[in-house]
Amino acid sequence: MPHRRPALAVPVALTAVLIAASPAAAGPVGDAGVGDPYFPLAGNGGYHVSHYDLTLAYDPGTKHLAGTAVLTARATQDLTRFDLDLSGLTVTGLTVDHRRAAHRRSGQELVVTPDRPLRKGRTFRVTVTYQGTPAPVTDPDGSADGWIPTDDGAFVAGEPQGAMTWFPANNHPLDKASYDFALTVPQGRTAVANGVLVGQRTRNGRTTFRWHQAEPMAAYLATATVGTFKVRQYTTKSGLKVYDAIDPREANAAEPVTRQLPAVLDWESKLFGPYPFRAAGSIVDHAPQVGYALETQTRPVYDRAPDLSTLVHESAHQWFGDSVSLTSWKDIWLNEGFATYAEWLYDEQHGGDSAQKTFDALYASPAGDGLWAFPPGNPGSGANIFARPVYARGAMTLHVLRKTVGDRAFFRVLRSSAAEHRGGNGTTAQFQRLAERISGKNLGPLFHTWLYTAGKPTLP
Ligand code: TRP
Ligand code: ZN
Repeated sequence: MPHRRPALAVPVALTAVLIAASPAAAGPVGDAGVGDPYFPLAGNGGYHVSHYDLTLAYDPGTKHLAGTAVLTARATQDLTRFDLDLSGLTVTGLTVDHRRAAHRRSGQELVVTPDRPLRKGRTFRVTVTYQGTPAPVTDPDGSADGWIPTDDGAFVAGEPQGAMTWFPANNHPLDKASYDFALTVPQGRTAVANGVLVGQRTRNGRTTFRWHQAEPMAAYLATATVGTFKVRQYTTKSGLKVYDAIDPREANAAEPVTRQLPAVLDWESKLFGPYPFRAAGSIVDHAPQVGYALETQTRPVYDRAPDLSTLVHESAHQWFGDSVSLTSWKDIWLNEGFATYAEWLYDEQHGGDSAQKTFDALYASPAGDGLWAFPPGNPGSGANIFARPVYARGAMTLHVLRKTVGDRAFFRVLRSSAAEHRGGNGTTAQFQRLAERISGKNLGPLFHTWLYTAGKPTLP
């Protein structure tokens, strides 16, 4: 077999060159993404983060951010190299287990080469110091997300990609972690993150707010919103710690709505099962340029005073989206369809239109209407994940499911789904299987028609 000779000779020479150029390149490398079809670079392969410890100082005057992020992670494969996601900013230092590690930037990938390989199963600690002027990312649909400066601070909302504009992350909802935040801002400003406020201290004209988010959280649901806020803290009858931060310019419109939060969460707990977190609240900013609210975990952030439907929507996301998170952005209807259907249910049970009436009004839209532009289970690209079919036809899908299986089974499905995947991730296929198990019905045709088939569905 004479052809073997050159075949042998070439790899040997090549390997020698590679070793000479870059020893790490020969070993196992973590992927640059987790394989999300819409956001291929989101998240990274080869490890899971269990905890983020973020120490940040922000000056709204200069818009300068200085940060230290300590990530506790576990290798899921042997790693000679792995990526974090970070967009913009300047990395000034990086260690892995306290040893300086080589690193370089490549688009949103921060590529880290530890000075010795990490074995599969190893827990390791990455410390990144960084600084700069954070800027939001522009999403495929043209909206901005991430660290968005305002006239008195910053509106911080990271769906789907923006977490990486303010901290180095494994930036995909598949990798959930607990968080600690220490946020320092000029005295008089307030910095609000997720979870429970565990400390607040003012020294030399600056105040540090310490927050602890115990339950697992997807990076996009983290916030560190800064502004001049009116703060109200209280504990509900059921022992939930509530922290509201409201821009005084929005207070008159916001307070009649935000003070209904405990009642809304109680009502949702009856439908969806126990509230999954120990903290709650609202951040109402004055940031009309943003154009949306986000269900930041435990404490949604609003760009203006929300109406009650919006508060109900963001609160429902605490179960659907936050506690139970997506596995892939393609499944976004699991977040938005459910939160929208919660609005319909709220109306139905509080003297407004029945869900059937809301469904009928939407169903009357002609076949050419944008509502039917694409099926919600297959939005086609990241540009469509916040488009109307995801919200409205997603909610319509749940209504058709409810009509098909009956109220008892339907609400059992919602509660079981929230319970089974609490603190984790879920998929559309798992939801369908659960609904089939509980109802004893074959729901394949229903899901196929309403979630995956183009055009206006016909009713049975
Ligand atoms: N998930 C948010 C909600 O429905 C909406 C949202 C987040 C959004 N980021 C966005 C909408 C970007 C448009 C563009 O409450
Ligand atoms: Zn939503």
